[in-house]
Amino acid sequence: MTAATPQIDIMGEEAIRDPYGAFAPLRSERPVYWDPKYRSWLITRHEYVSAALRDDRFSSDRIAPFIERKLSAPDTDPLLRQAFEVLRHWMVFQDEPSHMRLRNLVRRAFTPRAVAKMQERVAALSAELLAGIPMGEEFDLVAEFAFPLPAIIIAEMLGVPPEDRDTFKHWTEDVAPLVSAGLDDPERYNRATSAMDALVAYFTGLIRRFEGEPADNLISALLAARDDGGSLSEAEVVATCTLLLFGGHETTANLIANSMLALLRHPEQLAALRDGRIAPRQAVEEFLRYDGPGKAVVRIMREDTEFAGETLRKGQRVFLLLAAANHDPDVFDDPDVLRLDRAENPHVAFGFGPHFCLGSALARLEASIAVPALVAGLPGVRLADRQLRWQQVLLTRGLQELWLHNEGSSE
Ligand code: HEM
Repeated sequence: MTAATPQIDIMGEEAIRDPYGAFAPLRSERPVYWDPKYRSWLITRHEYVSAALRDDRFSSDRIAPFIERKLSAPDTDPLLRQAFEVLRHWMVFQDEPSHMRLRNLVRRAFTPRAVAKMQERVAALSAELLAGIPMGEEFDLVAEFAFPLPAIIIAEMLGVPPEDRDTFKHWTEDVAPLVSAGLDDPERYNRATSAMDALVAYFTGLIRRFEGEPADNLISALLAARDDGGSLSEAEVVATCTLLLFGGHETTANLIANSMLALLRHPEQLAALRDGRIAPRQAVEEFLRYDGPGKAVVRIMREDTEFAGETLRKGQRVFLLLAAANHDPDVFDDPDVLRLDRAENPHVAFGFGPHFCLGSALARLEASIAVPALVAGLPGVRLADRQLRWQQVLLTRGLQELWLHNEGSSE
């Protein structure tokens, strides 16, 4: 096939604003495409993305070489060294067998029961945050609701006491850019590594405390999994706490905000959810597919690989574009249409295969409570007359802010 190569800039304004439209020509014409500008493969078709996610020639060990380079310099700042040591222990960046060892241990702590137990707390916190939203004014849903909700929930699940919530929140905010995107501003970089240092010290303190007196929380459960014959080092327990904290924070916040945006742009779908004609759990699957928070995941080729008619070379970087796969017309009817009652929804918003999101049950629980709570609690809400600003990043799909106008009653 000698189709012309579609023009795309994966980080360009158009692709940031509308990744679904921007990636569509690539998916139909060059579903496995070498992007010379970003020196990476772009894989866009659902079938290929799913296959690559299960194929161990596509390695998740993508930050080790970068970290080794950073750490090999003799004058590396010790705080930076420590921050990367934490990331190095994240299971999401590991291949087998170390990935499964960690994942199985964490699964013993992060159980469906532990998640289901949070149902009432998520509902109560949603109500609390909603009560703080000003009436008759514009407000930023991201700052007032979508961001704090998952952060508070995971902090509580880990065992962070309520009195530490505010301090903890500051560190989390400062570290976030280190985890989610490249940092180019040295001042923010320093703040991020100092905050990671504080977070590591804080988690180490909590570990000491719960070693002495175990409680009903994830840290105690991780310690029990470690002591029950699991070989989990203290560094791994600390790193896993930070992974659970960050893995589920921005992603879930973006899911809540993107879902509200989608609903406000589709009033008939909003009405169906509000009237109870659509089950919240089913709606959440469509939110994940239609405009989910994960645009792409990264892999590095472990060896030269023939894949879908192309040769992917050892060491080359691959972006698996979940967003493009989730709008693949070969799999979804009318893929660009928001249809909350979609019966079949095999989206890959949580990935697929061995690294399938470990927090999917929690994310689903949070969104299926929070979004209906917003819809019910803000009957006259509408989009404020402001330009939407999307985060300028490739891997996640999230709004920097989502300004809404809370009119109060819709009567
Ligand atoms: C809507 C919200 C979420 C989305 C869209 C999402 C998406 C993803 C995706 C796509 C992956 C696979 C990454 C890869 O294959 O490289 C992943 C992995 C993971 N997620 Fe989530 N996630 C969400 C919420 C959460 C939450 C709430 C938690 C925990 C509190 C969490 C924890 C994790 C962990 C620990 C992994 C690594 C699993 C492994 O490597 O085996 N995520 N997530």
